Amino acid sequence: MGIRDEVLAAIARVCDSQHFILGPEVEALEGEIAALTGAAHAVGCASGTEALWLALVAAGVKPGDSVITTAFSFFASASAIVRAGATPVFVDVDPGTLNLDVELVVKEIQSRRLRERAASASQTGNVRAILPVHLYGQCADMDRFGRIAEEFEVAIVEDAAQAIGAEWNGRGAGALGVTAAFSFYPTKNLSAYGDAGIVTTTCPRMAEHMRRLRNHGSPRRYYHNEFGWNGRMDAIQAAVLRVKLTHIAEWNEKRRQHAATYDRLFAASGLTSGESSAQASDPSATPVRLLARSPQAKHVFHQYVIRAQRRDELRQFLTERKIGSEIYYPLPLHLQPVFSYLGLKAGDMPISEQAAREVLALPMFPELTEAEIRYVVESIADFYS
Ligand SMILES: Cc1ncc(COP(=O)(O)O)c(C=O)c1O
Repeated sequence: MGIRDEVLAAIARVCDSQHFILGPEVEALEGEIAALTGAAHAVGCASGTEALWLALVAAGVKPGDSVITTAFSFFASASAIVRAGATPVFVDVDPGTLNLDVELVVKEIQSRRLRERAASASQTGNVRAILPVHLYGQCADMDRFGRIAEEFEVAIVEDAAQAIGAEWNGRGAGALGVTAAFSFYPTKNLSAYGDAGIVTTTCPRMAEHMRRLRNHGSPRRYYHNEFGWNGRMDAIQAAVLRVKLTHIAEWNEKRRQHAATYDRLFAASGLTSGESSAQASDPSATPVRLLARSPQAKHVFHQYVIRAQRRDELRQFLTERKIGSEIYYPLPLHLQPVFSYLGLKAGDMPISEQAAREVLALPMFPELTEAEIRYVVESIADFYS
């Protein structure tokens, strides 16, 4: 990729400056991410997990509140809610995209409101926010979540950890709710040389709040008005990210091209029906199903994920051919032992549970070649032949 020298020069610049935490590199990155996403403000922080916590607290989530999120995501989408003192309310996903199902969210809020009328609010928990995750780099249905936010007066906090550069109806992920969290974990489309994250918002007041929260709740040095934490971003990470940021549009475009190649080769292989997993009249008719693509979404393919019959055997077969693959995620959040206190059980989120048994992420990175993609699809065809 040839950016190594540029990255090393950027790191050397930080070493020369001796300014290792926050400071000019972080501020410059914040301005660049704000411009990329279209959100007016960005606040650099220590990780995507930290970014989620900052976003939730700035959005007004308090102990005793409830926050609706997807049952099918990385753990941090839910653990950040707990760290904000609130209770996660898991809702199942859309069978096509595997993003949070809007209809089910509406039903959940309506049934909670009815119960609140019958009992005291504290018994059912106050839904303060909804946290949709843009899974695998494709935005959740943000038009409809926007309408829900107005109708039910809840905040929409985006988990955009996998979606830097993604769009919904021409608007950038990060500018689609009140606040949004991004991760720069080393496997992400835009990745640091360690842990880092950022929060975006269009609201200057929330941005200021998050700046204080990431720095011990401190408006000025050694004065503390509320409990924050050390959630700051390192200048070295910001410098690395700024080099890579100049390439992100091109890298995301390459990912889209690779996804189109996978789609084309899968269709030609006869392994898929050409329908998405939600449309397929008989989901078990083909060994492989692709996920649905929302027409409003500009996908950044953080992952290219298929749903596969005999998924674990297929994965083993691919490993023997030295083809890397990964399962995001093998156990839905409502079945994680740590959330047993919520009282949910197997069968409560059937779509997420089925997805957990079927999903397989195939190789996806900008440098992938057509020959490599062909080898992956041919190998999958060999497995099922
Ligand atoms: C959907 C989602 N949310 C949150 C996170 C947390 O980000 P981090 O690992 O930077 O804390 C990640 C990435 O790991 C993620 O994929």
